[in-house]
Amino acid sequence: MSASTRQYRPETRLVHAGTLRSQFGETSEALYLTQGFVYDSAEQCEARFKGEDPGFQYSRFANPTVDMFEKRIAAFEGAGAARATATGMAAVTLSLLGQLKAGDHVVASKAMFGSCRYVIEDFLPRYGVPSTLVDGGDLDQWRAAVRPNTKAFFLESPTNPTLDVIDIGEVAKIAHAAGATLTVDNVFATALWQSPLELGADCVVYSATKHIDGQGRCLGGVVLGSEKFIQDNIHILLRQTGPSMSPFNAWVLLKGLETLAVRVERQTKTAAALADALAGHPRITRLIYPGRADHPQAAIVKKQMRAGSTLVAFEIAGGKAAAFRFQNALALVRISNNLGDAKSLITHPATTTHQRLTEAARAELGITDGFVRYSAGLEHPDDLVEDVLTALKAV
Ligand SMILES: Cc1ncc(COP(=O)(O)O)c(C=O)c1O
Repeated sequence: MSASTRQYRPETRLVHAGTLRSQFGETSEALYLTQGFVYDSAEQCEARFKGEDPGFQYSRFANPTVDMFEKRIAAFEGAGAARATATGMAAVTLSLLGQLKAGDHVVASKAMFGSCRYVIEDFLPRYGVPSTLVDGGDLDQWRAAVRPNTKAFFLESPTNPTLDVIDIGEVAKIAHAAGATLTVDNVFATALWQSPLELGADCVVYSATKHIDGQGRCLGGVVLGSEKFIQDNIHILLRQTGPSMSPFNAWVLLKGLETLAVRVERQTKTAAALADALAGHPRITRLIYPGRADHPQAAIVKKQMRAGSTLVAFEIAGGKAAAFRFQNALALVRISNNLGDAKSLITHPATTTHQRLTEAARAELGITDGFVRYSAGLEHPDDLVEDVLTALKAV
């Protein structure tokens, strides 16, 4: 965080932290769309490469616009440092690869975004890093999964798509007692409503593609932690392997950060209004919203989240056919697999984000054929509630 913004509240840091003004004194941050940089002399170039002369060398390593994005989000999150990546999956993969080597073991909650599960369940074991998936809500399962070589725990909370909430502080304690770290995918909560590092996690990852952009324009990701965590695990790996964020995307996402708090506050209120409107609806067999008292882990929500979520999940009576009829009958809410967007979006996880899982694995996670995930946008809440209630009549 820059010295000039450290004393301000998170929402203020979202607007000002990390700003690097050029000699022109621009109001809006400059887009440094360049692959690299030139040097005044061969001596300066040598010194830059030795790390003796501060400045930029090559945009795979660092870039002023990307740097502004990293500093701003680190300031918002309350993290020591951040590194931006091309996508959220690059952030997840980097966070794990950076900490692990062949022979280590990972424990993760089985309820997570399909690609994250692929990385942990299928990809890491190919490189000699076995993993154990547990029911994230059962602390005994985390304890029982620990092996002498366990180096990292990974979870997301609320989970995608069933919005289960896992006790981050308690899982962090189990990880640390085992000599392991905890990485949290905080996409569904956003940094506005949940601070995993304060709760005890060592690393936080985001798909910036979601609420950070919030307007469906570009992909991005970010890994956050203490300065030491980032230096020890992420810094060199990112520079040398190159899943770096483009300066253009960093500029879009930097501008996205400026409006994140107002967007997420409004989207959360809308999601809560929709959840209340759907509660007790005869065609809905299960309704999950982290902001409601009837959420299965309401006590943990209260303990670790500052508000609910911009997402609501619900199961429609009648299985896949009914869920498809419902989606097709929506006039305003669009069918898409993204979330956190200005436009309200509906997803059928069983046939999209989680189609790779077996039917049994989906059933274990509560992803039934009638289950849908709704991401609240910035439309007027009454229009959205009317659209959803009208579409339910078509089921
Ligand atoms: C919880 C979660 N983590 C990670 C990702 C991956 O992000 P990206 O699509 O930006 O690679 C997603 C994307 O849907 C997600 O929902």
